Amino acid sequence: MTDQVRKKRAHLLGFIQHGVNSHATGMWRNPKDKIGWNFARPEYWRHIAQTMERGMFDAMFIADELAPYNTFEDSSDATVKWAVQCPTHEPSTIVPIITGATRHLGVGVTLSTAFEHPYSMCRRLSSLDHLSGGRVAWNIVSSYSKSEWDAYGAVMTDRSQRYARLEEYMEVCYKLWNSWEPDAIVADKESGIYADPAKVHEVIHEGQFYKCRGRHFCAPSPQGQPVLWQAGSSGQGRDFASKHAEAIFAVHPNVDRMKQYADDLNDRTINKFGRAPGSVKLIYGLQTVVAETRSEAQEKYERIKACIPLEGAIAWISGHFGLDFSKFSMDDIVQNIEIPGIQGLFESIIYAKGGAPVTVKEAALIYAQGMGMPVAVGTASDIADQIEHYMDEGGADGFMLAATYTPGCFEEFADLVAPELQRRGRLRTRYEGATLRENLLAS
Ligand SMILES: Cc1cc2nc3c(=O)[nH]c(=O)nc-3n(C[C@H](O)[C@H](O)[C@H](O)COP(=O)(O)O)c2cc1C
Repeated sequence: MTDQVRKKRAHLLGFIQHGVNSHATGMWRNPKDKIGWNFARPEYWRHIAQTMERGMFDAMFIADELAPYNTFEDSSDATVKWAVQCPTHEPSTIVPIITGATRHLGVGVTLSTAFEHPYSMCRRLSSLDHLSGGRVAWNIVSSYSKSEWDAYGAVMTDRSQRYARLEEYMEVCYKLWNSWEPDAIVADKESGIYADPAKVHEVIHEGQFYKCRGRHFCAPSPQGQPVLWQAGSSGQGRDFASKHAEAIFAVHPNVDRMKQYADDLNDRTINKFGRAPGSVKLIYGLQTVVAETRSEAQEKYERIKACIPLEGAIAWISGHFGLDFSKFSMDDIVQNIEIPGIQGLFESIIYAKGGAPVTVKEAALIYAQGMGMPVAVGTASDIADQIEHYMDEGGADGFMLAATYTPGCFEEFADLVAPELQRRGRLRTRYEGATLRENLLAS
């Protein structure tokens, strides 16, 4: 076996939102952002989809939340004022546009279970899986932000309760997705029988949180069920992801943290939940800033950082970490603060300086640039070196690449970095299968 064959190939996901800003606060004001494009129009999504497919990405990953953050100063004013992931449009609406413009690219869509019954969730996802020819993934989230619960007029439940509900939610989903037997559809024109009711099972579920009595309204879709994605990072979250997900997302600022995480997740998936090695992909956040020369890349990077508004940055960490950071001094040390929000992402800033103290101001500015992800700045070769390092030493199977400005950053990645990765045998040169699951689980 040659070295080329032995090397793990990177699975690439383009991490973006159906909105003006995605995960780099202030992105919209970068002179390179959306030149001639409107994020709310289909042609923008077609172009980005085709660019990612040219770069041999597995999928576009559409992140989402359900309402503007309102933790900072108990208001969503700063979120709206500084475009902190706002406005953001509904994510599943663009899935058919993306898959209609491509042949292989998958789409992972973030949909919250908090305010939707599993019955309609399964129906929507099965429909999208049909329309895409089996290229849909579901990023399962349960709404960690108070603003989402406020917007839906509900009282936020704690993490433990959210995971308990989620577990039952999945039970109902699996029952629905598995309820049609493969040969249930007869479609015999002569007799007029379309489907055999004995093979389309009614789901009867009477649980603690959900009730359901009915047949799944969609015929089995190409993948049977969407590819399941998850990004839980607490102990409960890691268990949930290890049990259910086929790709798990995390943000770690350095290779040591990646390695610890990979060891823990692999132990949970294989030893605790008895899943086969390789059946779950570990995908890490990465931001790339590439140019023909290092000095040009550095210049671009400085421009990206200069776009970040400090108040917007603080509003974002307040939203994600569930704490009003206006109540802290900018010089307070984040290592001394306990947060109720997304612990896994908070750790990305706790360890942003290798464990050395990080002030609130530093944390906000680091986070606002790309959610605490490591940033690879340089030539295609520099970036490919870093990617190889994270794969070989950090246990990464792939990367969610956070947008810095769109569609330019994905065009640059496809034109400069993807060919370099292919030269090194680290990226596919053709898609392996027809469905997203086949491509994601390959190699
Ligand atoms: C890389 C990453 C991406 C995430 N993307 C989203 C998202 O788009 N929407 C969302 O509601 N939650 C998102 N989350 C939050 C998680 O899905 C999860 O709900 C949250 O981390 C709380 O669970 P935990 O306490 O187990 O970490 C993301 C988390 C991580 C680490």
